[in-house]
Amino acid sequence: MSKARLTRDRRSAQPSFTRVTRSSISSQDSAHSIIPQQGRPSDSVLLSDLSLMRVSEQQASLARKGKLSKNGSYISESSSDNIKHGLSTSSGSSVRASGRSAPRGALETVGRLMKLGRLRNVVVVAGAGISTASGIPDFRSPGTGLYANLEKYNVPYPEAVFNIDYFSDDPRPFFSLAKELYPGQHRPNYIHYFIRMLHQKGLLLRMYTQNIDGLEKMCGIPDEKLVEAHGSFATASCHLCYTPFPAEEAKEAIMSDDVPKCSFCSATVKPNVVFFGEDLPEKYFQHTQDFPKADLLMIMGTSLQIEPFASLVNTVKSTVPRLLLNRRAVGPFERKPLRRRDYVELGDLLHSVGKLAGILGWHTEIEDLMNSHENGTLPMLISSSPSSSGAIDPSCSSGEDSDSSEADSKSTESSILSNHRPLQSV
Ligand code: OAD
Repeated sequence: MSKARLTRDRRSAQPSFTRVTRSSISSQDSAHSIIPQQGRPSDSVLLSDLSLMRVSEQQASLARKGKLSKNGSYISESSSDNIKHGLSTSSGSSVRASGRSAPRGALETVGRLMKLGRLRNVVVVAGAGISTASGIPDFRSPGTGLYANLEKYNVPYPEAVFNIDYFSDDPRPFFSLAKELYPGQHRPNYIHYFIRMLHQKGLLLRMYTQNIDGLEKMCGIPDEKLVEAHGSFATASCHLCYTPFPAEEAKEAIMSDDVPKCSFCSATVKPNVVFFGEDLPEKYFQHTQDFPKADLLMIMGTSLQIEPFASLVNTVKSTVPRLLLNRRAVGPFERKPLRRRDYVELGDLLHSVGKLAGILGWHTEIEDLMNSHENGTLPMLISSSPSSSGAIDPSCSSGEDSDSSEADSKSTESSILSNHRPLQSV
């Protein structure tokens, strides 16, 4: 078997991965402060600071300076790229540095390393939290998450709606939900465009998303830079014999409360969203090539509760910085003390990402990109080659990165089919 099965992490042995701690869900995000940065340290000071990074959870003392607009863009109260990086947020907490040099938070540290050109192969790992600003609920947030609001679908337990055995017996709950989930009703937000900007700067090695909302593609992240680990609605097939079925026909049937049937075996057809008990797509296995090459792992908006995806975060080298942007600490970031080079920025993602974009000096560019894309003045699909004009630092030349990363991407894709790791279901 060449694929991984989608499972809920139940802490059972999975030899292919290091297991992560299962999160306990906490509904409270406490308020914390970000320590203002003072002056620009040298590279060596910066690196020595990295070894001193620890989580700081201090009370916020300054008012939050950014807010979410109705269309999911980040609005800074200061001028676009002059977001005051050191300002505290009312809802966030941050890793801070201790020691002799000026203390700084997670975003400042990672942002500075990016500006120094030290982090050129960024792997993004994302979940439903990146799309809540687009008006799509996540799965597990108490009260607002999808799993807390499934009464009308009459399922025995929330995750049954995405369980392949349950679907086989009764596809109606999923089909009712699918009518609401089908892409087309929501737009990408600032966070999606930030990730696209990573690509345009030549810094995105790959984005691994668990989301099935299609917003990554919609904002223009090219196919070869994207792994939709839990599938998507873009294609459909028989859930028993996997015979492909036209996705539009499947959608039309589901939207009209019909059940699409396989032309080969007459079993029920479903969109190729990965259900519990199903295999992950082939493309997912690019992780065996990508993660060892990453020099920054950005983890955004996920509870890291679903395997095998959750364990991906443990497959980068221990020297590689991992930045968690989320409402609460999850997975290995719940551990204290954190691993060296682990950075955590707790709080609303839109705010954290807006702040990081400000540190990088990308804010105006992202806003412009977002506006022109949303107003239809940019083609929807962009070239997979990032532009060389957008590099933030000469040492971070996107042209150079682009060549090597595209070459890497091609060799990765050609070798991936012969390099699967056997994975097992729980
Ligand atoms: P979850 O709902 O489990 O986790 C979302 C995480 O994002 C939570 O930790 C939230 O606190 C955080 N979050 C939400 N909105 C946020 C915001 N605006 N700012 C910061 N943090 C925010 O969603 P996933 O981890 O994506 O599988 O769930 C993984 C998989 O479980 C999904 O792919 C789905 C589900 O069962 C399938 O559909 C097969």
